Amino acid sequence: MPKQDAQIQRKVEHLFLAEKYFTDEAFADFDGVRLLHNALPELNLKQIDLSTQFINRKMALPIYFNAITGGSKQSTRFNAELSQLANKLNIPVSSGSMGVYLRLPEETKNSFSVLRDNNPEGFVIANVSAKVNAQQAQTAIDLIKASALQVHLNVLQELAMPEGDKEFMWLDNIKQIVASVDVPVIVKEVGFGMSKDNLADLYKVGVKYVDISGFGGTDFAQIESARNHELDLTYLDRFSLSTVESLLESIPYQNKMTIFASGGIRTPMDVIKAIRMGASAVGMSGLVLHHLQKYSLSETEIFFDEFVKQLRLIMAAIGAKSIADIKKAPIIFDGNLINYAKQRNII
Ligand code: FNR
Repeated sequence: MPKQDAQIQRKVEHLFLAEKYFTDEAFADFDGVRLLHNALPELNLKQIDLSTQFINRKMALPIYFNAITGGSKQSTRFNAELSQLANKLNIPVSSGSMGVYLRLPEETKNSFSVLRDNNPEGFVIANVSAKVNAQQAQTAIDLIKASALQVHLNVLQELAMPEGDKEFMWLDNIKQIVASVDVPVIVKEVGFGMSKDNLADLYKVGVKYVDISGFGGTDFAQIESARNHELDLTYLDRFSLSTVESLLESIPYQNKMTIFASGGIRTPMDVIKAIRMGASAVGMSGLVLHHLQKYSLSETEIFFDEFVKQLRLIMAAIGAKSIADIKKAPIIFDGNLINYAKQRNII
């Protein structure tokens, strides 16, 4: 059997290691956030409108399938299914990092282009690392006629990888990408969160859209340590900011930038809490990938139909007729989160 390219092999390992470590209980700190119900919601469940402005397009729901995969045969299957499901739900779907396409275009093209083929009119997002140049970013966008580009920041993942990058000079590059490509650019983390200082830096170089992708779900320190046969670097994740902490960090920037949230989203309640804390929409990778790996596409569809029904129920319970109304619901933080916000001078 021919030896598989190491970068493609890594993508395959990510898929099964994400599943190996997936747990229903996330630790993104949503338990420390409480919403109060409204005893007089003055609405009819049928009136509830879940539609959401996602950057420049109206989508049916405030959720999206975040970056996962591309490059391998397995990726082709998952991207095909993710884009079909995104098409049916009318939500955005993101590609996994397209760096492997930039290096091996012929071998890997189909695993990415299937995202567009299965969802010709949909909001499909390309994904590249913060080290690619603007021309390479545009090549990735062009392949899938992307509606937006995600640029990922993954320092802790690279540090935990035996073959990881050692140089992290990204800001100027991001500035060039934002100024040059022909679609909106979202800068995202990969599950370790972002601080307000990071948001300040991104704002300065012209970034308008950020996915804080916090800690609490898929943990790349754990995944890469499982691939690293010499060192266990799981302790690197101790530096992470949870999704809820990152949302607190984003408060000073919420009127200047559009904030998306992801990382450890497990339940419709997590989605509503993230929106209440300022997220414009909420991304998930681990959860949808788990359903596709463990069950079938049709079972995953049923899971998401139920998920959407429950979003509606929660909105009724807090008296929200629209996504904008969610932001008015009373919210209570536990002592740990208040302590965090005080020490970080957020409140
Ligand atoms: C990811 N994620 C990711 N992110 C990115 O920007 N580019 C990528 O190529 C990948 N690859 C990838 C593979 C797999 C198998 C998973 C599960 C995830 C990170 C992802 O988009 C997200 O930021 C984190 O996974 C946190 O969200 P969840 O998984 O906790 O919902």
